[in-house]
Amino acid sequence: MNLRKTSPAFSALAGLLLLSACGQGGEAERASEDSADAGATTLPNGMTVKEQIEARQGQLEKIGESFKTISDQLKSDSPDVAAIQAAAASVPENATGMADWFAEGTGPDSGVETDALPIIWEEKDDFLAKVTAMQEAAVALVAATEGGDVAAIGAAFRETGGTCKACHDKYRLDD
Ligand code: HEC
Repeated sequence: MNLRKTSPAFSALAGLLLLSACGQGGEAERASEDSADAGATTLPNGMTVKEQIEARQGQLEKIGESFKTISDQLKSDSPDVAAIQAAAASVPENATGMADWFAEGTGPDSGVETDALPIIWEEKDDFLAKVTAMQEAAVALVAATEGGDVAAIGAAFRETGGTCKACHDKYRLDD
């Protein structure tokens, strides 16, 4: 059942590329048929795989928007500290429970579109440590924004951004 362990995404991708290079176009058709009911499996938390993947992408999207707001304000000549504070405060909220968003079976083998790489489930402890690092940095960022000092906010923002990047570099498909 656990295809992930025997066939990492990269070799699957390489295989597909090789197949299409050889003119065996049927592979793509089969793949799209397979994903018609992709992610219909129910997880222990009651969500389907597809719901779980889409929910986490939605939360990460919100976190990304908050980060964009903060970044834009920090670049401005007169940063709107209240806007920064509000955006920062939403990050730990939106990241609550992140350790549970990557249940076994919610990787690319599910057939649902996801940028989560299979290595997440091979190195789950390290992945979860990176989740915690981000959550802690985000709390520190909130504290920095409350102080209102733009330089201190900038430093905490870069610190938090580093924790996003540390995870993305290793565990998110680079597209
Ligand atoms: C522990 C790992 C980890 C950390 C920390 C992390 N991310 Fe991600 N992020 C991911 C993974 C994995 C995906 C791909 C999820 C998917 O497609 O199922 C992702 C996807 C995203 C997306 C795209 C969501 C979408 O599909 O539209 C955004 C935006 C994003 N992350 C922003 C951030 C920001 C900002 C931070 C830091 C505050 C952060 N992430 C921290 C692992 C992480």
